[in-house]
Amino acid sequence: MQASSISKYRPFPPVHLPDRTWPDQTITRAPVWCSVDLRDGNQALPQPMSIEEKLEFFDLLCRTGFKQIEIGFPSAADTEFNFCRRLIEENRIPDDVTIQILVQTREHLIRRSFEAIAGAKKAIVHIYNSTSPLQRRVTFGDASREQIRDIAVEGARLVKDLVPTVPGTEIILQYSPESFSDTELDFALECCNAVIDVWQPTPEKKMIINLPDTVQWTTPNVHADQIEWMCRHLDRRDSLLVSLHTHNDRGTGTAATELGLMAGADRVEGTLFGNGERTGNLDIVNVALNMNSHGIPTGLDFSDINRLREVYERVTRMTVGERHPYAGELVFTAFSGSHQDAIKKGLDRRDRELKDHPDLPWGVPYLTIDPRDIGRSYEAIIRINSQSGKGGIAYILDREHGLDLPKTMHPQVGKRIYDLADELGRELSADEIRDAFHRLFANLEHPLSLKEYELVHHTVERGQVSCSATVVLYDEERKIHGLGNGPINAFVHAMENAGMKDFKVSDYRSHAVRGGSDANAAAYVQVQHDDGRIVWGCGIDPSIEMAGLKALVTAWNLLR
Ligand code: KIV
Ligand code: ZN
Repeated sequence: MQASSISKYRPFPPVHLPDRTWPDQTITRAPVWCSVDLRDGNQALPQPMSIEEKLEFFDLLCRTGFKQIEIGFPSAADTEFNFCRRLIEENRIPDDVTIQILVQTREHLIRRSFEAIAGAKKAIVHIYNSTSPLQRRVTFGDASREQIRDIAVEGARLVKDLVPTVPGTEIILQYSPESFSDTELDFALECCNAVIDVWQPTPEKKMIINLPDTVQWTTPNVHADQIEWMCRHLDRRDSLLVSLHTHNDRGTGTAATELGLMAGADRVEGTLFGNGERTGNLDIVNVALNMNSHGIPTGLDFSDINRLREVYERVTRMTVGERHPYAGELVFTAFSGSHQDAIKKGLDRRDRELKDHPDLPWGVPYLTIDPRDIGRSYEAIIRINSQSGKGGIAYILDREHGLDLPKTMHPQVGKRIYDLADELGRELSADEIRDAFHRLFANLEHPLSLKEYELVHHTVERGQVSCSATVVLYDEERKIHGLGNGPINAFVHAMENAGMKDFKVSDYRSHAVRGGSDANAAAYVQVQHDDGRIVWGCGIDPSIEMAGLKALVTAWNLLR
């Protein structure tokens, strides 16, 4: 912003709470969760969900483990009312799930809301009125504090009177001083205590005081101060569930919620992936998985986050960003070579140590959780662009294509494949990496190619092998012969006998290729040229002998 623009903004006043205790608290248990996807989330969609889509979403929320679900604002529109009725009349609400409905503190809306919930086993009736000085001045035309408090009290009285009209329904009452985040604390307290006084909750029949961070005006520590201050001053604290409802205007919904829990809140409202007005509501998935990552069970099951995301994106028509915590396409992906190397080492070491220590705590560099715990896979972790280092290519070839390259081959292969990514100016897929590896380092046939060979294992001179092969060298077919202490050695001698003398084999290894449909072997031969150059070649073939010879031919070709 330009200085001339900045000058119109003011600092947000801090809360005077020198003896605040929340900074020393740690989160040790999960709050009561309430999804507001079908209300706050839905009302913020360019194209709100249809009833069928809401029903699917409701089922998803139930399966995920939500026990409190705000299903809408039934007095606001017929579709909202009808959705509520369908849930109730079609018996779609599991016995352990409580629906919540939102309503402004206005008489006809409150009456209509009670009609909507008739027949439900349990329901939370959530009333709200806006309380901040800004709202009092602008929206309510300079309404006084008393007028605003009276709106809350009248609404609360009407709700109390209407509870007996739904005798079969167990009602939990909830009040929100909307715009709490910029309401003077003493006035928010006055409104809440006035409602508490009307509803007279008890420890056995608690009510909910929801303190919305309706617009996030300031830093999360101030929100925590506000919550701690309210928790200290609210009447009948032991008869209340203090609830958080953060939004994300400053990008700190998660932080504000976590600090709010440290400050004493019992309950959290939010949405999947943070859908909601403007920058969205709190992302409950984020906070719950943060808790899981500290060993805290939450009652919510995000073990198939891809499916959750698929349904969410389809029915809301929103998208989850690529870097969105836990759910984003790229969040378990490392492009940086040093990160890839550390992750590969961490995963390999963990695999080894788990054999002796099945309870080994999670600890892999750069991964706060095991991606498999939320249905993500290791395969996607390492991806290759021109900025990546050498370890990643080897990881992809190993994990995705079953090729376990010798460590000293990594730099040679890495460099060529990164050059390719650089040329293309984009990321390479795992299949492109495999194809490039095959094209550049495996079964190379020019200028030398092996057409056929025969090995004879001599039993008299134990360990001696003679090799007769047909090769094509610079388009000329030749028969070559050699004797050695193994197939490779015999073939090397056959090459030498045919005049190809400028190299020696300096390393060799082989393994069965994992995972492929064909039972192939992979062999790697390192050769050193007389001029000092050292290269690795790879051979892949159903026969391990042939794979070794192809690897040697490939390495020799790479030196030409
Ligand atoms: O953000 C908000 O203040 C709300 C209230 C209605 C709880 O959504
Ligand atoms: Zn909200």
